[in-house]
Amino acid sequence: MKKTIIKGTGRYLPSRLVTNEDLSRWMDTSNEWIIQRTGIEQRYWVPEEGGVGASDLGFEASKIAMSRAGWEPEDIDLIIFATLSPDLFFPGSGCLLAHKLGLSSTPALDIRQQCTGFLYGMATADAYIRSSLAKRVLLVGAEVHSTGLDISTRGRDVAVIFGDGAAAVCIERMETDIKAGILASCVHADGSLAESLMTVAPASRENPRLDEKMLKEGKHFPTMDGRNIFKNAVRRLPEVAGEALNKAGISLDSVDLFIPHQANLRINQAFAKSMDLPESKVYNNIQRYGNTTAASIPLALDEAIEKGLLGAGSTVMFLGLGAGVTWGAVLYRFPA
Ligand code: ACO
Repeated sequence: MKKTIIKGTGRYLPSRLVTNEDLSRWMDTSNEWIIQRTGIEQRYWVPEEGGVGASDLGFEASKIAMSRAGWEPEDIDLIIFATLSPDLFFPGSGCLLAHKLGLSSTPALDIRQQCTGFLYGMATADAYIRSSLAKRVLLVGAEVHSTGLDISTRGRDVAVIFGDGAAAVCIERMETDIKAGILASCVHADGSLAESLMTVAPASRENPRLDEKMLKEGKHFPTMDGRNIFKNAVRRLPEVAGEALNKAGISLDSVDLFIPHQANLRINQAFAKSMDLPESKVYNNIQRYGNTTAASIPLALDEAIEKGLLGAGSTVMFLGLGAGVTWGAVLYRFPA
């Protein structure tokens, strides 16, 4: 049977370290507030002068993942690029990444599913692989949030949570009858909550898409009803975790590690509590990176592998909720 397995991972963070103290100089906030409400201590941002897009970060992460997987660019059948902060309004960052990799006809698909981009990407890669449309898929999550944040007091609820970064995963077909690879994936969306977390402009429903008035009002910055998103996450994450376990036919105990999206440490602690999991089974690195959206789950996966928390035979659940709102879970077992 065709199974979808992870062959290599890689991550890349830009070098500009931004601490909570730095943010406190630019807006009315404090290290204590940020740590107490979110758990975040620092994040990395691209250089202030610009010139670095999501595909640049994704390219660096891809090179690492591909060297670990033993892949050359020509081995890739499909690129899936998950981001909410594409280099350009169009074309997609996947096309730009393909070009950086020296590819000129490999298909490239962008996924605009925000914090669940990696989950939707895994589900899509699995479908391509199991239907024999592709043997090798490069899945990238990459974000440059910092150039799109309101770093004044007006935007403080959103600006303090986001970090830039990228991670890539080389996904490959394996023929085996053992229970391994992607065991289940569940993805969902509820557009009735779209306005709880959004960036309004530039957008096709505005004419012009961006003008002086909209700029003044900050319509090009993200806005969030943080409490509503928080409440939804705390309700939906245990729900979708249960759904994925049922679909795969495995028990909660057989999952070695949970890697939730890194949106807020308190959300992940609430998830651990409601599932009755020891906190050591739920991986968190938001303290160091902030919320890197589509990059956050693969970035944590790459770290967890490096730390030896995951390896041959281990089972991991990826899950998250974000703008859309979209939410989901993917259960994965490393081949023994
Ligand atoms: N520093 C200091 N004070 C602040 C800050 C800040 N950075 N931000 C907000 N405040 C103030 C508010 O103005 C408010 O003041 P008031 O009581 O005088 O009105 C007070 O702090 C409380 O504000 P809340 O927004 O209610 O604070 P909350 O505890 O909800 O924390 C947060 C805000 C951290 C954003 C939280 O709601 C959250 O994490 N929500 C979920 C985020 C999430 O999961 N997003 C999805 C992923 S992102 C994606 O998909 C792109």
